[in-house]
Amino acid sequence: MALHALTFLTTCITAVTVVTATSSTQFPFQPLPDLFSLTVDDIITGFSTNQFTSADLVSAYIARAAEVQLALRPIIEINPDALLIAQTLDNERLIQNRTRGPLHGVPVLLKDNIGTADQLNTTAGSYALYGSIVPHDSTVAANLRAAGAVILGKAGLSEWAFWRGTNNSNGWSARGGQVKGAYYDNQDPSGSSGGSAVAAGLGLTALAVGTDTGGSVIDPANINGVVGIRPSTGLTSRAVVVPITVVQDSVGPITRTVKDAAYLLSAMAGPRGDPGDNYTNAIPFTTIPDYASYCIASGLQGAKIGIPRNIFPAPINYTESDIQQIDAFNAILPLLASLGGNITDNADYPEIDAYNTEAQFTLALDIGFKHDFPAYMSQLKFNPTGVEDLADLLNWTQQFRAEQYPLRSTDFWEDSLASNLTTESPDYLAAIAHNAYLGSNATIQGALDAYGLDALVLPTAYSVRPAVFAGYPVITVPLGYFNATTAVVQAGGGGDPTVWGLNTVAPGIPFGLSFIGPRFGEAQIIQFAYAFEQATMVRYQNLPLAKYMPVTQLHTPVAQAEFECPDALGLPK
Ligand SMILES: *[C@@H]1O[C@H](CO)[C@@H](O)[C@H](O)[C@H]1NC(C)=O
Ligand SMILES: *[C@@H]1O[C@H](CO)[C@@H](O)[C@H](O)[C@H]1NC(C)=O
Ligand SMILES: *[C@@H]1O[C@H](CO)[C@@H](O)[C@H](O)[C@H]1NC(C)=O
Ligand SMILES: *[C@@H]1O[C@H](CO)[C@@H](O)[C@H](O)[C@H]1NC(C)=O
Ligand SMILES: *[C@@H]1O[C@H](CO)[C@@H](O)[C@H](O)[C@H]1NC(C)=O
Ligand SMILES: *[C@@H]1O[C@H](CO)[C@@H](O)[C@H](O)[C@H]1NC(C)=O
Ligand SMILES: *[C@@H]1O[C@H](CO)[C@@H](O)[C@H](O)[C@H]1NC(C)=O
Ligand SMILES: *[C@@H]1O[C@H](CO)[C@@H](O)[C@H](O)[C@H]1NC(C)=O
Ligand SMILES: *[C@@H]1O[C@H](CO)[C@@H](O)[C@H](O)[C@H]1NC(C)=O
Ligand SMILES: *[C@@H]1O[C@H](CO)[C@@H](O)[C@H](O)[C@H]1NC(C)=O
Repeated sequence: MALHALTFLTTCITAVTVVTATSSTQFPFQPLPDLFSLTVDDIITGFSTNQFTSADLVSAYIARAAEVQLALRPIIEINPDALLIAQTLDNERLIQNRTRGPLHGVPVLLKDNIGTADQLNTTAGSYALYGSIVPHDSTVAANLRAAGAVILGKAGLSEWAFWRGTNNSNGWSARGGQVKGAYYDNQDPSGSSGGSAVAAGLGLTALAVGTDTGGSVIDPANINGVVGIRPSTGLTSRAVVVPITVVQDSVGPITRTVKDAAYLLSAMAGPRGDPGDNYTNAIPFTTIPDYASYCIASGLQGAKIGIPRNIFPAPINYTESDIQQIDAFNAILPLLASLGGNITDNADYPEIDAYNTEAQFTLALDIGFKHDFPAYMSQLKFNPTGVEDLADLLNWTQQFRAEQYPLRSTDFWEDSLASNLTTESPDYLAAIAHNAYLGSNATIQGALDAYGLDALVLPTAYSVRPAVFAGYPVITVPLGYFNATTAVVQAGGGGDPTVWGLNTVAPGIPFGLSFIGPRFGEAQIIQFAYAFEQATMVRYQNLPLAKYMPVTQLHTPVAQAEFECPDALGLPK
């Protein structure tokens, strides 16, 4: 697809001092690495041997994004300053001989709900936040900038991280349009961090960041062929991130490889001394672990891993999708054992019936958003719509045509407003405490303790809940693909699943394997996932559809050509 065919492109960025990579006698890359599989380690090597620069990467990524943007819409905005920032970081490295760390000059795409105090908007996909100005960078963005990352832009998402109404489609937002996956036509990208997962998967960025309240990192990573980590609640700060609820929100990496996710997590985790950020200030680390150092090929040696099979669906309820994922899972257990894993099968969740019948998933979202959303709005430096609380947001959204109400409902907010509970209500606090018990001692912690385990392993599809209720960490890594005769299943939010024409199960769509660890046990699950990934490299066994595979590479002229970047999507007509 030709760049100039894209109407949303406009020339941006003016002259800056450009340091080009100088020739070196030692070129480890011949040819230059493919951007579909480029890793942070490749970038470190390419930079240190002067084979390419951060500016080269930014230019190539923007050109790649432009190739697929109209078809798949993974990106909402490109940072107009990305090239300038990359060049500044190149200068720092090449002229000042200063490297901040492994992420120096590495482009990172943020989900559109992660606040940045720059030319980018932070909108959670909604026009209600368009043009709003955040008080300062989110802690996550500030940590990444300090680590030398280049904020490349904002990724498409399910609007409000899917916290708006039952019958929205995964990946749709008023500002970004419909994100789609690349492995099948009209692939449901899952969500809510669908744009981050599609962009990481296609190599439109080196690294991507998502947020997770009830599966929003793990689910899209699962079906877009990438790695995702939902960190322990609190490890990554929610400061200046558009919230759903402080009880469950977590910000996590979405990347092509486990080691890239590990580098990214170390860079973005932890507080920045913000006194209001109580959860992140309370994490049990004075220094965030160097998670990449746990990426060792022998990482499963002696690992005690259990399979909580009683969270899988009952066989009588298996769909074809369940059968294929469970078959693929069972088939790799001998490999896990041969890599040194000591596997306890049927390391079941001890109080599964209580969990299944008593856990209240929407409660913390219903009550938390009503409280945390106005708190987010009140800190804005500029609020162009005047929306201050959930009642305002409901009214505003229902009246603003591009928000597509009532086709896309607002029932989650209506239910929330109809509830007389607040975050202070004893009934609410008791129910949240019970949820935390159901997600820990009744299930994950209960199984870890009862069987003396380091971690749990299971098909990703069954791994998200109960982990989110008590803030346990989950990592997903590619395991397999739906086979050639798979019957296509449509989905996309609730409502009538055929309305949006999105395919959620179909031939060639990937699925993953998850490890769940104890609270703040990210290092070990990263170690286990890395050993599995290195032994299998499933991500490269089946590729996205050829028509969605960008062709721009570091060596192609377009990556070096006069720089263009996507314009703002702007207000609808
Ligand atoms: C750059 O810094 C590294 C260590 O930080 C040092 O070993 C090297 O000699 C420096 N190179 C130049 C050209 O100053
Ligand atoms: C952010 O929103 C403003 C409108 O308030 C718009 O003018 C600007 O172009 C947007 N920024 C980007 C990078 O799209
Ligand atoms: C954080 O903790 C302090 C001290 O306990 C408290 O005063 C403050 O209200 C808390 N902040 C939030 C956002 O919960
Ligand atoms: C099968 O699914 C139905 C509908 O979701 C559910 O009511 C039933 O309990 C499930 N059966 C078993 C054995 O889990
Ligand atoms: C795909 O998986 C289904 C369910 O396990 C199986 O019935 C079918 O034979 C498989 N098709 C191929 C081509 O392997
Ligand atoms: C696996 O773990 C169990 C329980 O801790 C232990 O008894 C057994 O010896 C271990 N097996 C191997 C092969 O290490
Ligand atoms: C609802 O929004 C409309 C326009 O956005 C505004 O005119 C009206 O006053 C609002 N109503 C309430 C009850 O806030
Ligand atoms: C979504 O729900 C609303 C209200 O119930 C309804 O009017 C609309 O038709 C639904 N849309 C879809 C796509 O199901
Ligand atoms: C809150 O609403 C419930 C029903 O949803 C009702 O039973 C209860 O009395 C109400 N409590 C208060 C304090 O209004
Ligand atoms: C889980 O059990 C431990 C040890 O028995 C206890 O300290 C902790 O409070 C329990 N957690 C919950 C959420 O009930």
